[in-house]
Amino acid sequence: MQRMALSWKRTRTRVALVPTMGALHSGHLSLVRRARQRVGPQGIIVVSIYVNPTQFGPQEDLARYPRDLPRDSAMCESEGVDILFVPDDAGMYPQRGTPTGFSTYVSEEGLSRGMEGASRPTHFRGVTTVVSKLFLLVLPDVALFGAKDFQQAAIIRRMVRDLAFPVQVMVAPTIRERDGLALSSRNRYLSTEERKQATVLSQALREARSWVRSKPSGLSAQILRGKVFRLICSRPAARLDYVEFFDPDTLQLARQVKPGVHMALAVFVGKTRLIDNGRL
Ligand code: PAJ
Repeated sequence: MQRMALSWKRTRTRVALVPTMGALHSGHLSLVRRARQRVGPQGIIVVSIYVNPTQFGPQEDLARYPRDLPRDSAMCESEGVDILFVPDDAGMYPQRGTPTGFSTYVSEEGLSRGMEGASRPTHFRGVTTVVSKLFLLVLPDVALFGAKDFQQAAIIRRMVRDLAFPVQVMVAPTIRERDGLALSSRNRYLSTEERKQATVLSQALREARSWVRSKPSGLSAQILRGKVFRLICSRPAARLDYVEFFDPDTLQLARQVKPGVHMALAVFVGKTRLIDNGRL
């Protein structure tokens, strides 16, 4: 992969990278379309598919994460993706866990602490490590991420700035189902009944937005958290993991929530953990 990337550099070919864990859906494809707009018809689009073990906690869904390479590769082909890069564990983390094997990690230590980082303590270290390695293998001019994983995108931006990766990071809006549910590979885990109740995440965002807009002086985060908690509780399959209100640029938590403040939440629907976020 890196040899090919170096040859593109020599011919000044523009390269866009869309990193994914596969089980592709229209959210991923929206990133591919933006990538094409960025690099033009002569540019190269690389989609990587790698279910990265280091970003999963020990009790998480690594083993059952959906994998469907034939379908993913057909989707990429019909979107005009030039290269599908599908490394394996031996290639990405050679002999990890042995004395002479892989032992170098990249960790962002500010933005990673709260929200997803608090619920999933080793998650972002895995993400920043694998994304760093993908950047060094593919040497992209531009890399595309989704706002669906808002904190992840902020952390990648910070990492690129702090470590001076010569990569332009672009963040694209969240693609949703008609009923508001954000597209996610993990939606495949939901039963029919859970799928119905899963709309509570986007509903919570909509309702929070209207509560905040009806009180321009602001609402306390504590009161808003209580309201969201009660709404989530109204769906029997749903359990709130966290909801936070924060400045979208710094991720600093807000005590007083006014229009423009960002909200992010994680909710278990049955055993499936879903996340969503949006501007209030
Ligand atoms: P994955 O969950 O497969 O997501 C790949 C990219 O697609 C991420 O940038 C994510 O934010 C974006 N995405 C997912 N759902 C979306 C939606 N509904 N609308 C718009 N974009 C969406 O995120 C990861 O993989 C991994 O952590 C990765 C960055 C690949 C590192 O392993």
